[in-house]
Amino acid sequence: MAHIVSTRPLIDEGLSGVRDDHTLTVCDPPDGSTRSVDDLIALTDGADVLLSVLADPITEELFAARPELQMVAQYAVGVDNIDLDAAAAHDVAVTHTPDVLTDATADQAWALLLAAARRVPAADRYVREGRFERWETTLLMGTELSRKTLGIVGMGRIGTAVARRALGFGMEVVYHNRTRANPTVERQVSARYVGLDELLKTSDVVSLHCPHNEDSHHLLDAAAFANMKASALLVNTARGPVVDEAALVDALANGEIAGAGLDVFEEEPDVHPGLVEQERVVLAPHLGSATTGTRTRMAQMCVASITALLEGADHVPHRLV
Ligand code: DGY
Repeated sequence: MAHIVSTRPLIDEGLSGVRDDHTLTVCDPPDGSTRSVDDLIALTDGADVLLSVLADPITEELFAARPELQMVAQYAVGVDNIDLDAAAAHDVAVTHTPDVLTDATADQAWALLLAAARRVPAADRYVREGRFERWETTLLMGTELSRKTLGIVGMGRIGTAVARRALGFGMEVVYHNRTRANPTVERQVSARYVGLDELLKTSDVVSLHCPHNEDSHHLLDAAAFANMKASALLVNTARGPVVDEAALVDALANGEIAGAGLDVFEEEPDVHPGLVEQERVVLAPHLGSATTGTRTRMAQMCVASITALLEGADHVPHRLV
């Protein structure tokens, strides 16, 4: 029987498989703060497996302090918080949850896009505040999407799912990616490959779906915003640091772009105060995968990976290290 520590409560149904066969300790995160490495070292006393989330710093220090740890099962597709080289050096397996959150995250990109284009949060506030007294000809004017251009940065699984949804809205889709998508994918989602400069210049909506790494850090900076249409909207459901948030605040304030829908932030859970002040910015607390079905399947994937590793299976699903 192994000892599994989850750094926070996950959907119960998803974990039933592991509860019967092993000891599962589910921790509650401290109020209002993210965990430090020291907190994680304390939590993993005697643990064989750690179930982690993006906010948990899984570092060399943790692996060195807990040599008995066999595995980190990350409850996310992204593993930005895990030092994978250190995991490999300490012979700790790392798994994640790809694919299963593609549609939920693509839906969230569209939810933010539509909310920003049609000013849904401002309209909701307007009604709740009792300000809806009569129909007005120019109240809370938005932008329609049909015949507009959607520029997708990062044409992986989620970018492709976002492009597929654009077909139903009658949008033209251009995309930029490190490597060009295969022609079948391009045809299926009617997407045209362009350079980043052209994408920024011609898109009415720019939606980010690339990973965060050295190359994509602050990919959208002051120069990029200066290149965009003044009427353009930015959607980010990828990773906060792909956008230079201070430059975005300036671009919005100076009218270089019209609005944004943001699910992720540079210094999560902190949000740049300049974004909070902007009426044309729609904010969400990193909810890309937050549907009951998706989060349940993510937990089930973690359980499948944990079970395979603990049973010594030849193949551990979704293993990165
Ligand atoms: C992921 O899985 O990487 C998401 O960003 C968190 O839900």
